[in-house]
Amino acid sequence: MKTPVLDALKNLMEENSVSFHMPGHKGKNTLINWGEYIPYIDTTEVEGMDNLLEPRGIIQESQEHAAKVYGSKATYYAVNGSTGSIYIALATITKPGDKVLIQRNCHKAVYNALILNRLQPVYIYPNYNENHNVLTGLYPEDIDEALTENPDIKAVVMTYPNYYGVCSDVKAIADIVHKHNKILMVDEAHGPHMTFSDKLPISALEAGADIVIHSTHKTLPSFTQTSMIHVGTDRIDLNKLRDRYQLYTTTSPSYLFTLSNEIAAAYMDGEGRERLDKSIDKVNEVISRLQQIPRVEVFVGDSEDETIYDKDNTKILINIDGIRGSMVKKLLRTKYNIRLEMADFYYALILTSLMNEDEDYEKVIAAIEDLAKNAPYEEINWVNVKMPIPKVIMRPADAYYGKKEQIKLKDAIGRVSAAPIIPYPPGIPLIVPGEEITQEIYEHVLFLMDNGIEIVGLMGYNKDNVVVVE
Ligand SMILES: Cc1ncc(COP(=O)(O)O)c(C=O)c1O
Repeated sequence: MKTPVLDALKNLMEENSVSFHMPGHKGKNTLINWGEYIPYIDTTEVEGMDNLLEPRGIIQESQEHAAKVYGSKATYYAVNGSTGSIYIALATITKPGDKVLIQRNCHKAVYNALILNRLQPVYIYPNYNENHNVLTGLYPEDIDEALTENPDIKAVVMTYPNYYGVCSDVKAIADIVHKHNKILMVDEAHGPHMTFSDKLPISALEAGADIVIHSTHKTLPSFTQTSMIHVGTDRIDLNKLRDRYQLYTTTSPSYLFTLSNEIAAAYMDGEGRERLDKSIDKVNEVISRLQQIPRVEVFVGDSEDETIYDKDNTKILINIDGIRGSMVKKLLRTKYNIRLEMADFYYALILTSLMNEDEDYEKVIAAIEDLAKNAPYEEINWVNVKMPIPKVIMRPADAYYGKKEQIKLKDAIGRVSAAPIIPYPPGIPLIVPGEEITQEIYEHVLFLMDNGIEIVGLMGYNKDNVVVVE
């Protein structure tokens, strides 16, 4: 029998590695032992069950409970990650062709949604902290200015927190957006846990956001692909949301994912809250121990930088002087059996959740201590993560659906891109469809490639082609 996926998953299981990686359940059960129930509970809408697309019974009751737990006006379980939830939410708060204000380092799901809804974006760029070489948050005043200059904008879309845990002043932003009578949508994919502890940054719902997207699977004990859409205010038309939900959701939604969302909310309503609180104390202890290791820097924010309004430290971002972040990640996996979430040139991300145990933290501290003591020093080029600002020539949808051609990257200077160009990491589009590929962008792409950064969106055998508008 040919079962390569099964074989690989069995190997992964046998490795029994420490996970500082998504999903947030970290391989552990909460409330039920899944092994006992799967596959028996994988059902569809048989009698006595409910329908996620049109909930009237147990799912409705469950979602209403989740709404109470989160303090939302309404909560919807979703089964296609935050990606699917972003499609639903953006289609709910706009009509095709509308103008929207978008934080330019949004996840690619937001750009997909711009294309699907033929929206006209106005971009607002994140700030950059030179001392730590990280992208930071937004100035609320910049949003005020953009909304004053573009009174026809219908909605604002921001990411909060970012992958590294950096938070903008979301409350001030919500107040500004509402002063202009617009809708604030927050992609809080990385922050579903923030509701449950006062030791963490304020949650977007509490700050007054109108619609909030969660990847339950990223930071809570829940299966990959689980997500929630929370409605925070009366500015959201729930009938329209239900309609768009049906537009983008499979007619066979998984009961496993639905249940997993329910269990995450129910767990966080009880034992999970206390466990999260304890884990935050543990994380703070771990950070101070890591900071004492020679060569190790932990990014915990920067009190001088107003654009780092707050920091979710459950995302521990470390740099070991003289070792690339990607090498730290690789060595932890191969030498110490520890899986980190991601790495870039400088940093490696230890993504913790309430499900990590004390022994996981002891293992990662010991491994980092060992690396910092013994790994050779390498001179590392300064790869600035600050984003160049390309010119927007046309709407993403016009570039994406228009006539296109594939040409060499070196010939593309001055042309309009018809596809995104995304360096991984960090996975933020350098160019989105409809933007001009300038000399500066071209040189930046070459520089990133020379420094071993993978560029998604380049085509052809040698990965030196791009797709541009004809
Ligand atoms: C900020 C942000 N939003 C949305 C998504 C999409 O989430 P999902 O993988 O749950 O579809 C991601 C995924 O990494 C993300 O980082």
